[in-house]
Formats: sequence, C-alpha cells, structure tokens
Amino acid sequence: MRKKPKLVVNHLSYCYKRANKQPLQVIDNISLKIFNNEVVSLIGPSGCGKSTIFNIVSGILNEDKGKIEINGLKEKSRRGKCGYMFQEPLLFRWRSVLENVMLGYEIKEMPKQQAKNKALNLLKEFGLFEYANLYSNTLSGGMKQKVALLRTIAFNSSLLLLDEPFGPLDAITRSELHLYLLAIWKKLKLTIILTTHDIREAIFLSDRVYVLSKKPARIIDCLKITLPRPRKLEDLTSEKFVSLEKRLMSLLKQSHNKKDISH
Ligand SMILES: Nc1ncnc2c1ncn2[C@@H]1O[C@H](COP(=O)(O)OP(=O)(O)OP(=O)(O)O)[C@@H](O)[C@H]1O
Ligand SMILES: [Mg+2]
Repeated sequence: MRKKPKLVVNHLSYCYKRANKQPLQVIDNISLKIFNNEVVSLIGPSGCGKSTIFNIVSGILNEDKGKIEINGLKEKSRRGKCGYMFQEPLLFRWRSVLENVMLGYEIKEMPKQQAKNKALNLLKEFGLFEYANLYSNTLSGGMKQKVALLRTIAFNSSLLLLDEPFGPLDAITRSELHLYLLAIWKKLKLTIILTTHDIREAIFLSDRVYVLSKKPARIIDCLKITLPRPRKLEDLTSEKFVSLEKRLMSLLKQSHNKKDISH
C-alpha cells in the first residue's frame, strides 16, 4: 500500500528582506514529499537554507511562493503542527530534566499534573527516569540532546523537524544517539526530517536523503537509502553503505560547486 504524505512542500521559494540591503534569496523552487513514518535527511552546504526551510515548515516564517501541506491540510497557520528541535538546543538551566520535558506539554496548555505524569512516562519509556531531577546544566552534551529530543516529542510527535540534532557530539556519543533516536522512531512510529552535515549519519538514519545546492537552495538530487531496517552499527562498514557514501559524497561535491548568490 502506498504510504500517505505527511508533509508536502511544493515549489517553495523564500527571500529574506533586510533593512537597507538587497533582499537575500535563500530558497529557490524546492519541492519535497515526506511520507508517514519516514526518516528523511536534508544535507547541503552551510548557509544554504536548511534551517530556513524548517522555519517555514514550522510556521515561524511565511513562504513567499509555494504551498505547504501537513497531513493533507493547507493550514494558514502551521504553528504547533510539528515538533521542532532547534539547531542550538534550548534547555532551561533553571529547570530540571523533568521540568524541561514537561514544558513540551505545558506549552499546549495541558494542566501541570497531567504534564508531569506524561513527562515522567516519557522519561521512563526512554531511559531517562533516573535523571528526572537533575538540572540541565549538570548534564553531558549527549544527555542534553536526549532531553531536548523528548521535550520536542512531548510538544508534538506527529512530525519531527530536527535541525542538526547531533552537531557538537563526539563520534561514540553520536552513534549511541543514532540508535536512541531510531528506537524512539520505531516505538512511536514517528515521521522525522533532520538536517546534518554528516554523510554517514544521513545514510545510517534515513530512508531518503535530499541533497541541496548552495544558496539559494535547490534540490540537486534525492538518494534512496536501500539498507534494511533495523539499522545496526555493522551496517556502517558494509559494501552497500560504502557505495552509498561515495554516491552522496559526489552529489555533495556537485552541490558545493553550484554558485552561491551571496549579497
Ligand atoms: N533572519 C535572517 N535575516 C537575513 N538573513 C538570514 C536570516 N536568517 C538566515 N539568514 C541567511 O540565510 C542563509 C541561510 O541560512 P540558514 O540558517 O537557513 O542556513 P543553513 O543551511 O541552516 O546553514 P547551517 O548549515 O550553517 O546551519 C544564510 O546566508 C544566512 O546568513
Ligand atoms: Mg542551520
């Protein structure tokens, strides 16, 4: 059976209007389709417009041209329709792990006690219960990312936008977090779009990888990742993985060669 699209982006273009400066075109005619329960990565040169795409999909910015549909609905306000984990994780230092995750529910105006119970359940289900009362400034980078991820899921688990969710972590912690994310994805049947600069991460996690050009971002290609699931660490050294890595590297080289129209 053909899966239903969760997110459709049709012919999207976007320009930043800047005081006393030329407008900066960042997105140029991008179309994407993300299906239910897929994991899809966006990869492309720094500054090409990946975070801008997420800001538009989440409703923080309004598109100049194009159409966006979430769950088949062209809603005027898309705010609150997806869980969005920002490129810089914003945990509140003065809140405990539990209180940070509760915030995801509280923003939706859920009563405090119910938010607390639901947050505790989420922490239990995904292995963070024993850290519930720690303050976020005492956590390691990897643990902070886990808490930020659960808070995003608490806010909205229907469609997740994860903007470089593993950016500043070391290789071993990153790979632990990849497996953590895939376990949650499987259990909660999430649909995930993430951005990354890491080719191996994109391949390991995704069903498909969109390669974007320098800004204004266009789609260079979409690579289907034909590795079976569940993904295992051994996959990273398989022949198939290495050949996907070569292919993606060559697409990324192309994307870096396309001209950047900076102002
Ligand atoms: N509010 C803004 N006003 C003007 N220009 C902006 C604004 N936000 C971003 N830009 C510019 O738009 C371009 C795209 O930025 P964006 O953050 O979307 O890129 P990115 O692909 O997410 O980059 P990175 O991989 O480094 O996170 C950049 O040139 C950036 O400087
Ligand atoms: Mg970004």
